[in-house]
Amino acid sequence: MATAAAAIVLAAGAGTRMKSDKPKVTHEILGKPLVRWVVDAAKEAGAASVVTVVGHAREQVEPLVCDDTHVVVQQQRNGTAGAVLVCKDALAHAALVGAPVVVLSGDSPLITPGTISRLMETCEENDAAVVALTMELENPFGYGRIIRDESGQVLRIVEQKDATPEEAAVRECNSGFYCFNAHDLFEALVRVGNNNAQGELYLTDVLEICRTAGRPVMALRTETAEECLGVNSRAQLAEATKIMQRRINARHMAAGVTMWDPDQVWIGPEVTIGQDVELLPQTYLLGRTSVGSGSVIGPNSRLTDTTVGQCCRMDETVAVQACVDAAATCGPRAYLRPGTHLCEGAKAGTHVEIKKSTIGKGSKVPHLSYIGDTIMGEGVNVGAGSITCNYDGKNKWQTTIGDDAFIGSDTMMVAPVAIGAGAVVGAGSTITKDVQAGSLAVERSNQLEVPGWADKKRASQAGE
Ligand code: UD1
Ligand code: CA
Repeated sequence: MATAAAAIVLAAGAGTRMKSDKPKVTHEILGKPLVRWVVDAAKEAGAASVVTVVGHAREQVEPLVCDDTHVVVQQQRNGTAGAVLVCKDALAHAALVGAPVVVLSGDSPLITPGTISRLMETCEENDAAVVALTMELENPFGYGRIIRDESGQVLRIVEQKDATPEEAAVRECNSGFYCFNAHDLFEALVRVGNNNAQGELYLTDVLEICRTAGRPVMALRTETAEECLGVNSRAQLAEATKIMQRRINARHMAAGVTMWDPDQVWIGPEVTIGQDVELLPQTYLLGRTSVGSGSVIGPNSRLTDTTVGQCCRMDETVAVQACVDAAATCGPRAYLRPGTHLCEGAKAGTHVEIKKSTIGKGSKVPHLSYIGDTIMGEGVNVGAGSITCNYDGKNKWQTTIGDDAFIGSDTMMVAPVAIGAGAVVGAGSTITKDVQAGSLAVERSNQLEVPGWADKKRASQAGE
């Protein structure tokens, strides 16, 4: 590439058909806002700088893009040409040197970096003023139509509302993605008028203006119209989500991940998965989750921002900001909350909730327990129904359990409390004082037994 390319992402529109309090481009696909999909595709395609045009509810859009793009505001939504024109100052250098500038719609998240690159290459190789990405549609209604002469040369783009019946019959449509030579673009933009059916400044008019000025104007057809799908409604949001889900799943399957039914697996764009991982139905891997090779996740599991090591088993598990080391097992029905660390070979079993705790190597919490704010050593066994009472209504307190301790079933550990290494706690105890290493601690009232009482009771009832 001769000169570094820039990209403009149009994100000033309201998106009224979404019927939403949120601006359209902030709606998410697999946990990532629409506008982010477009910005990231532009960056992946090699755009050196990205300018995002915001307007409607910009206080909600700006935070999503302000870290890594140049944000400009379109005060008056007067059309797509108006939106690009407000980028003029931000792209002054590009205009000076005639660098390629890609224009993308912030509501079209399926565009691929490959297609953006092809637009840039086609524009540069042909020294074109503009290359528009186009698609053939069975039902082109609503889109701008590509009007060509007999030789196939692109003449102009005509919007639906301005099209003659003859023009409206054309099925080649404008996708709304372009690569311009920045110099030609800003020269032409000042000459765009609003003498059209919508009284707007149409970016599409730039094609005819450049062609008339003798500059090459081209159209690049996509093989897959799918990547040009714009999200204007909730139905289209669902359609785009389905396409993205399939794309991401196909990528992971190609890399050696098994899915019983890929339609029932949802994986976010930032998730990494090792080879020979098996994902069972109704599994959600979201945020910055990573799964090590050989692990089996699901069914019915949702992992968000969670790190899973190799050869783990996560059955019906919900985990948020947790870290699970190799060969650990979870579930069925485990809930790992933020700050949970299961060390190698540890177990969080059925109906077990763990929060902000380390469960040491090989330690087991197999049934019906709550463990919070706890540091647990290695080789510990926690009996069924045991609970760390970490909250006194005001503050949270710490529990520590030493290596190889054995906690009997139904133990209440009232924090702050420490149970020493190798200690044994009798079942049913409420432990309020520290237990020394190697001790037995039992907190229980004595068992009363009245011999023959039950038989007598039954006999008297029978005689009534
Ligand atoms: C536009 C194209 C049409 C193409 C279609 C593809 C024009 C004149 N027409 O039509 O040829 O087939 O996209 O989807 O460009 N925007 C702003 N500021 C504005 C107006 C729009 O930022 O003042 C943004 C919108 O938020 C949106 C994008 O530009 O992201 C496209 O605008 P929209 O009004 O949806 O254009 P279409 O009528 O769909
Ligand atoms: Ca419009």
